[in-house]
Amino acid sequence: MSGGGGGKLTEIDHVGIAVRDLDAVIDWYKQMFGAEVAHRERIESDGVDEALIKVADSYIQLLTPYTDTSPLAKYMEKNGEGVHHVGYRVADCAEVLDHIKAEGARVVDEHPRTGSRGTTVAFLHPKTAFGTLIELVQE
Ligand code: CO
Repeated sequence: MSGGGGGKLTEIDHVGIAVRDLDAVIDWYKQMFGAEVAHRERIESDGVDEALIKVADSYIQLLTPYTDTSPLAKYMEKNGEGVHHVGYRVADCAEVLDHIKAEGARVVDEHPRTGSRGTTVAFLHPKTAFGTLIELVQE
């Protein structure tokens, strides 16, 4: 389902939120909004545990580091809890990544890699995107 006007961006896939106590935050979303977890996964490549709450065709991605060496642990030492990144859905992650590199953007991932739910993902560097950490997500 592609929306209007987003060019290569077809939907907001998820908003990634850094939290310290995953279970407490899951309980809070249930208590406040009646929201249920659709998927939980340990993403070893990122050193994080995630819980996905589905909202229409998008997700809230609650993330907590399970090891001190996780990049998210280092991020949270400086920035604490809160919005960490936005996942933009694209039809072809490799194609979009090649395009933005050719246009001079800085990237975290030189090549697409496997993300949660078996998706294909790549992160852009926040310095290239006006302070927002952007994740490209191909279903
Ligand atoms: Co993400």
